[in-house]
Amino acid sequence: MTLRILVGISGGIAAYKAAALIRLLVQEGHDVHAVPTESALRFIGKPTLEALSRNPVTSDVFDDVAEVRHVALGQRADLIIVAPATANTLAKLANGQADDLLGTSVLAATAPLVIAPAMHTEMWRHPATRHNVATLAERGAHFVGPDAGELTGGDVGAGRLAEPERIAQEALAVLGDGSLRGRSVVVSAGGTHESIDPVRFIGNRSSGAMGVALARRALARGASVTLVGANLQVAAPAGADIVSVESTAELREAMLRHANADFVIMAAAVSDYRVATGSDTKLKKDALGANPSIELIENPDILAELAQADRSNTVIGFAAETEIDEDALVALGMTKLKRKGADLLVVNRVGTDSGFGERATSVTVIDTDGIVAAASGTKMSVADVIMDAIVKHKETP
Ligand code: CTP
Repeated sequence: MTLRILVGISGGIAAYKAAALIRLLVQEGHDVHAVPTESALRFIGKPTLEALSRNPVTSDVFDDVAEVRHVALGQRADLIIVAPATANTLAKLANGQADDLLGTSVLAATAPLVIAPAMHTEMWRHPATRHNVATLAERGAHFVGPDAGELTGGDVGAGRLAEPERIAQEALAVLGDGSLRGRSVVVSAGGTHESIDPVRFIGNRSSGAMGVALARRALARGASVTLVGANLQVAAPAGADIVSVESTAELREAMLRHANADFVIMAAAVSDYRVATGSDTKLKKDALGANPSIELIENPDILAELAQADRSNTVIGFAAETEIDEDALVALGMTKLKRKGADLLVVNRVGTDSGFGERATSVTVIDTDGIVAAASGTKMSVADVIMDAIVKHKETP
């Protein structure tokens, strides 16, 4: 399939390597549009980029104004690759600055963003750059490199642009295989809050990162995605329909409303209990005394309800467990899978150093016959393995 790929080039010495990247992408049959910044054009000439991409090149928002080029390029892109991305360009992208064609194009796009940074080691390690990289990664940008090696001026360290072959390969992999094109996915993410009074709640530590990563990978595979976010602490992906909820009751209502999707994924950490009688006014210490207690009542099990309904969809649940022994962990998951009636269960080991938050995670995916997949790594890479297992389950009669 021919993809429309926008290659943003910023002004570093590695800009010359963008020529090789563009050439590779064109050779693969893609429609490539180069968007150099003004400073990139001091390192690499426009005629080179035009000849290699076989498309006109401009970096000026005031060119082709009638075509509304400053947003059209981004809106029409299937994939955006920024290579090289300098420290300055990372800062601008992280802040959503739109003072050149690359900035406006990235802001107008919903396509996946792949960034290949290149700069001196000190700049790459600077807290400002670390912060910008974290911001962009949280928003779903994929980073390729930088590599460690010899830098311009004789320095050696992290900061070399990744090789063009690797950038092309990893960027195209981000787009997925179209395996969910025409399919719908609803995924719940985050953790529910049960109100105690107007200022207090019972909650959990789920940031929503896993569910959001699943939503991103489903979008990349071409699915239409609804993300039911319970108190998300990470950025939701552009391109998904977002339904924001707070309590288990609201989450249940939203999930039942979207349960006609082809794939229903319950990645949210749901509170098993809610407060029996919430208060509309702030509870006061004077009235509560020294040893107050809160009466809890059980919440409905949303996953069980979705799984046990009359359905033709695929229902996927999660189980966050602290069990360390792998066999015992799978056994716990199997009991839960059968009790709830889901098609697949993603058993996710949580503890102090894995599971919740943006750290690396490790999961085992099971169906009623046993283990179907296992993965550990970043939430995004694990999400891809889970999506593979989900697609495979649907395809297996
Ligand atoms: N879940 C749900 N509704 C609830 C509780 C959990 O839909 N009231 C879903 C979660 O979204 C997850 C799966 O059920 O997909 C497993 O959640 P978990 O908390 O591990 O299961 P519990 O049944 O609460 O068992 P445990 O006693 O281990 O907490």
